[in-house]
Amino acid sequence: MNDLIDNYLSYYEELKENPDLGLVLYKSPPKYIDEVSWFSNLYSEVLKKDAIAVVAEENGKVVGMCDIHRLRPNSELSHIGNLGIAIRKEYRGKGIGKKLILKALEEGKNLFEIIQLEVFSNNKIAISLYEKVGFITYGIFPNRIKRKDKYYDVILMYYKYTENSNFNK
Ligand SMILES: CC(C)(COP(=O)(O)OP(=O)(O)OC[C@H]1O[C@@H](n2cnc3c(N)ncnc32)[C@H](O)[C@@H]1OP(=O)(O)O)[C@@H](O)C(=O)NCCC(=O)NCCS
Repeated sequence: MNDLIDNYLSYYEELKENPDLGLVLYKSPPKYIDEVSWFSNLYSEVLKKDAIAVVAEENGKVVGMCDIHRLRPNSELSHIGNLGIAIRKEYRGKGIGKKLILKALEEGKNLFEIIQLEVFSNNKIAISLYEKVGFITYGIFPNRIKRKDKYYDVILMYYKYTENSNFNK
C-alpha cells in the first residue's frame, strides 16, 4: 500500500512544476493516513465488485494505476463505471497507459456496461489515448475545474461495451 500512496502523492509534487497537470487533485496534498483509508476503501469496493484497480509496476515499483468505480451501486446508474488513470511522470510515453487502460476495460467487461470519464480539454495525450481505445466524446463542461484562479474545460467521454469490444489494440 505504501508504494501505491507514494505513487499517488507524486502527482502533487509534479503539480508544483506542471500547474496544468490534467488530474483533479485536492487543494493541498492529502494526509498519508487519509490515503490509507482511501486505498482500504478501494480494496473493499473491489471485493464487492463495485470497482476495478489495475496497477502498473516497473522493477517492483508502482508507476501507474487505472481504476474504475461503480457510479452509484444499487441504483439506476449502477451499470456505469467511472474511470481514472495516471502514470508516473518518468514512465509516460512508453505504452504503459495504453496497456493499463485496455486491461482495466477488459476486466470491467464483466462488471459494467458503460464507462465514463472526464478529461481536461488541454490534455491532448489523454484524449488521444481514450479515442484510440474506443471512447466517444459526448460533451464539454466549461470551467468544470477551478485550480487557484484558473479555470479548465473538461471533455466528457464514454465507452460502451459491445460484443465486438477489442482489448488488444
Ligand atoms: C494520459 C496518460 C495516462 C497516458 O499514458 P502513457 O503511458 O503516457 O501513454 P502511452 O505511452 O500508453 O500512449 C498512449 C497513447 O497516448 C498518446 N501519446 C502518448 N504520448 C504522447 C505524446 N508525447 N504526444 C502525443 N500523443 C502521445 C498516443 O495516442 C499513444 O498511442 P500510440 O502509442 O498508439 O501512439 C499519461 O500520460 C498520464 O498519466 N498523464 C498525466 C495524468 C493524466 O493526465 N491522466 C489522465 C486524466 S483524465
